[in-house]
Amino acid sequence: MKSFQDKVVVITGAGSGMGRELALQLSALGAKVALNDWNGEMLAQTLQAVEAAGGKGMAATFDVGDQAAVFGFAEAVVAQYGQVDLVINNAGIAMERRSIANTPMEEFERVIRVNLWGVIYGTLAFLPHLKARPEAVVVNISSIFGIIGYGGQGAYSTTKFGVRGFTETLRQELHGSSVTVTCVHPGGVKTGIIRNIPGEASPAKDKFASNFEKIARTTSEDAAKTIIQGIQNKRPRVLIGNDARLMDAVARLFPTFYERILLRKNRVPGG
Ligand SMILES: NC(=O)c1ccc[n+]([C@@H]2O[C@H](COP(=O)([O-])OP(=O)(O)OC[C@H]3O[C@@H](n4cnc5c(N)ncnc54)[C@H](O)[C@@H]3O)[C@@H](O)[C@H]2O)c1
Repeated sequence: MKSFQDKVVVITGAGSGMGRELALQLSALGAKVALNDWNGEMLAQTLQAVEAAGGKGMAATFDVGDQAAVFGFAEAVVAQYGQVDLVINNAGIAMERRSIANTPMEEFERVIRVNLWGVIYGTLAFLPHLKARPEAVVVNISSIFGIIGYGGQGAYSTTKFGVRGFTETLRQELHGSSVTVTCVHPGGVKTGIIRNIPGEASPAKDKFASNFEKIARTTSEDAAKTIIQGIQNKRPRVLIGNDARLMDAVARLFPTFYERILLRKNRVPGG
């Protein structure tokens, strides 16, 4: 998809971070944006920013883990604009640093509901509409943690590997059709993702957030630009940041030895 002029673009999780930037940049390139977030206030701010810059859009507040709400949104977007050309399943939540053994089942379920079911629902709800277009794109946001496992991020990594498996399979099944499928693997991107982890603020969460903000190198503006270039160039797989490119190369060259490298800096006892 070379041009976004008059294209209808759906973006989930558009209230903050990369989703908000994608909304602003795609709208500046001429797209009509259909935005979602479960945080209505932040979502309204994104839509206001889009409109203040002369763009057009609609917004709906719901949880992407709610199947009926996602399918309802697809109908609402088609009722409003008559078509959908690009869907970016971006909404996602992080988790606090915890071993798999110490992760409460409810946290596993919450992360899987948002990060994996959200992507599956978002893809399947829009796919029939995308297939009706002469050219269309599905973009699913995985992570570098969809390429490598990482101690303390078991539930998150489970979902991001799941997104990758789902997306790579879908791409094979849609080969030769009008729908292009892209899987995105960001490294550290400076967004509010850690501060946005559901639940109470705590000193541990605060420390995790400030450590993350120190090591995350890519801005959300640059991340959104890279994703947009990936869409324009029909890239099946988009890595964001030197950290993601390096870890991807190491994991491909040394599919298990990479774990020893990580263990030098990141040890999370499993008990
Ligand atoms: N920031 C990073 O370093 C990084 C790295 C790899 C992958 N990612 C992925 O990128 C995507 C965007 O993350 P971000 O860094 O911009 O984070 P962010 O927290 O700034 O933005 C995510 C947005 O999604 C929304 N959201 C969360 N759960 C939702 C739900 N159930 N329904 C609707 N909206 C929901 C949040 O309210 C928020 O506005 C996520 O899928 C994340 O896992 C981020």
